[in-house]
Amino acid sequence: MNQVTFIVLGATGDLCKRKLIPAIYKLIENKKLDLFAFIGVSFDQTNTEEILQNSKKFISKIDNKLWNKLEKASYYHQLDFYNKQGYKALHDSIVNVEKKHNLNGNRIFYLATIPKHFKEITKNLNENKIISKHQSESNCSMCKHPWARIVYEKPFGSDFTSAKQINNCIKKSFHENQIYRIDHYLGKELVSNISLVRFTNRIFEPLWNNKNIESVQIILKEKIGLEGRGNFYNKYGAIKDVIQNHMLQILSLIAMEQPKKLEAKYIRNAKAKVLKNVKFKDAVLGQYKEFTKEKGVDPKSNTETFAALNLEIKNKRWAGVPFYLKTGKYLDKKDTSVHIKFKMVKCLLTKGCPTDSNYLTLKINPDQGFFLELNIKDPENINTIMPIQMNFCHSCLFGPNTPEAYEHLLLNVINGDQSAFVRSDEIEHSWKIVEQIKKGKFKLFKYEKNSSGPEQANKLNGKGIRWRS
Ligand SMILES: NC(=O)c1ccc[n+]([C@@H]2O[C@H](COP(=O)([O-])OP(=O)(O)OC[C@H]3O[C@@H](n4cnc5c(N)ncnc54)[C@H](OP(=O)(O)O)[C@@H]3O)[C@@H](O)[C@H]2O)c1
Repeated sequence: MNQVTFIVLGATGDLCKRKLIPAIYKLIENKKLDLFAFIGVSFDQTNTEEILQNSKKFISKIDNKLWNKLEKASYYHQLDFYNKQGYKALHDSIVNVEKKHNLNGNRIFYLATIPKHFKEITKNLNENKIISKHQSESNCSMCKHPWARIVYEKPFGSDFTSAKQINNCIKKSFHENQIYRIDHYLGKELVSNISLVRFTNRIFEPLWNNKNIESVQIILKEKIGLEGRGNFYNKYGAIKDVIQNHMLQILSLIAMEQPKKLEAKYIRNAKAKVLKNVKFKDAVLGQYKEFTKEKGVDPKSNTETFAALNLEIKNKRWAGVPFYLKTGKYLDKKDTSVHIKFKMVKCLLTKGCPTDSNYLTLKINPDQGFFLELNIKDPENINTIMPIQMNFCHSCLFGPNTPEAYEHLLLNVINGDQSAFVRSDEIEHSWKIVEQIKKGKFKLFKYEKNSSGPEQANKLNGKGIRWRS
């Protein structure tokens, strides 16, 4: 029986409104929660009705009966994260709610705030025994005593030093198996499919190395701009906002060695090993033309809104294979995808050899699926080879309603499954890669909105690149 009290710290924020309450509603709708309560916590003098109401428009279809169920189990508790005395009252509120709803005390604390608050909240939760270290146990959905798990939203720190400090602080309070560092890309259907596709299909894994793969492109293009987050983005930029987390996580899943089992411990060991061996080679950075006029952005800002990178992985499997990463704001389209380019085969034809090799493309967002590009004979032209696609479209086969990343991830926390969450060493290795890039002090190229970024990005490390998107 799944029973849990969700305590969201930062309940009046954008993340809670857009993602967390809709995810909890979906868990109720999909019958994943038998008994539950939701306690929203933040600084504002507001109330439960207002918090739930603000979230309603982010849920596609509401069933009134289910919404009533959520309303009846929802509460608001006002607290300044820095008021140490206030945590005693929070604890009392949680205990009262749990008594009222016959809950056994399983708790998820979700820190839906900026990382600046992580250490203070963690210390106070521990010192007031709201969560304590000994309550920990992994895979404890079946155990008799209650569990407590703590979720940290991304970004986890703003550089290597701050991430390390947060890790050191939270490890004093909690066991690693209580700690869930979110990277919501790991909850996306096609990202969570990467290791399954690799390791359950004989046709891929034997080819997954530098003998057969020429290069890998990981692309995360955004069509949108800052969406009111100018102040945050000015400090972070594209490298810290999406490369440090989403894109390096995808890279680590693509490049990791075969884990002993597809379980959290082994997957995270394998990913950490890859991240430790990533070497930065070259970058082209860009900034869209109107960026410095945006609200919250420094008029002299040197923050990149675009980055194209060449990385390498220093191990036997990947030696000599370039990993190209590209991301940016206000680009020509929204697209997250991975393109694996296989090496050309020796052509045995006397005429009309293929001009390109095979590609495996993973479509992550907005389309989901993958396709394999193969060469076949053109039926209409003798001696002509043409590329065709063997296509798997996820929504065509399973319908458009796959679970949202946050629903998926909250369910994983309830089930004590950490495989889609980032371990402390992975986070620290990723920040180290960011440090390598930041040392480069690259020139910033301006680009037009709705373009594919600065044209300089078509060359990295002295080599021309044909970006696949
Ligand atoms: N929004 C998204 O879709 C999204 C997606 C992925 C990641 N994130 C990340 O998630 C984090 C939170 O994002 P957000 O957009 O929700 O931020 P936000 O809108 O600024 O919300 C922050 C929350 O923290 C509370 N808070 C701040 N200082 C407090 C204090 N001293 N005591 C008590 N409460 C305090 C605020 O409460 P009051 O309003 O009452 O002051 C608010 O509820 C950020 O790091 C963001 O980058 C957001």
